Amino acid sequence: MSKDQLPASLQAAAIAKAVREALSAISAADSLEALKNVRIQHASDKSKLAVANREIANLNAEMKIEAGKALGAAKAAVKEALDQRLITLSIERDEAVLRDEKLDVTMEKKLGLSGARHPLTAVIDRVVDVFVAMGYEVAEGPEVEAEWFNFDALNIPKNHPARSMQDTFFVDNSDSGVVLRTQTSPVQIRAMLTRNLPIYVVSPGKVFRTDELDATHTPVFHQVEGLVVDKGINMAHLKGTLDHFAATMFGPDVKTRLRPSYFPFTEPSAEVDIYFNDQWIEWGGCGMVNPLVLRACGIDDSIYTGFAFGMGIERTLMFRHGITDMRDMVEGDIRFSQMFGVEL
Ligand code: DAH
Repeated sequence: MSKDQLPASLQAAAIAKAVREALSAISAADSLEALKNVRIQHASDKSKLAVANREIANLNAEMKIEAGKALGAAKAAVKEALDQRLITLSIERDEAVLRDEKLDVTMEKKLGLSGARHPLTAVIDRVVDVFVAMGYEVAEGPEVEAEWFNFDALNIPKNHPARSMQDTFFVDNSDSGVVLRTQTSPVQIRAMLTRNLPIYVVSPGKVFRTDELDATHTPVFHQVEGLVVDKGINMAHLKGTLDHFAATMFGPDVKTRLRPSYFPFTEPSAEVDIYFNDQWIEWGGCGMVNPLVLRACGIDDSIYTGFAFGMGIERTLMFRHGITDMRDMVEGDIRFSQMFGVEL
């Protein structure tokens, strides 16, 4: 067989053309993705050079060597060009990533509005801290409460105005026996029924009354209840406790006074006033736990006495900060909370 019997694909011109085409496609590839396609077209089993390579098998020994050399050189040239281009494009890609994903850690960040604790929450936490520091425990009760705990056990008789539909949210209807608690005082009963004596508990929480929301009323508000039942407890203990409580809320100079009053579950009962910003203001109610209530909870009132008090958290916050509109405290506008900062 002579040289001019070489198949067309193995002719020097054809090989050179295939190499030229491959090299120009390689240098034209402008991305790693494009280069991958070029590799498939010009350096895979389907490339012209690979097809030519398969023709070698049909040649005689001498021509095999010749054609093999020529093709080997051609394939090596293409592979070399591919490898070089791969390096170049990889470097370019890495540089682009570094450029595009550059992060300026010194850049000023625009801070969005961050949250703030609601001042009512802050007051509640503070009250709890004050009493826990005196050895009290926190007691909790349900917001959906049995009428019996909310009224009967607290010696609030059936015909008491606080039991009428005007004040109380009944669950289902007024015969259901289930209400949204109107005060935190039912937690006193729960504490006395479930805890061992002596009892020192503080109990903050939500209470509900059928009031329209306006500047001075809100149907959902907060109270904090205190209850002590121990041997030898008298009104001096109550007054001393309230004085300390008032001082932690309104500052050491605040004055307190007890004004005789009536609550069915305390006897005697009093209103607690504080002298703050040059006037006496009513802060809450208090008294010595009515022996009837102790007895209803199975406590021997010949051995144990107790005191109790209940304050409105909203009122406390309003006096402290001169807030005149209740609605500011319930509308949830973050700007209101932010005025108090993160901690009160
Ligand atoms: N529960 C009463 C109210 O909501 C407040 C109160 C008065 C609580 C006297 C007490 C207390 O513990 O002894 O008006």
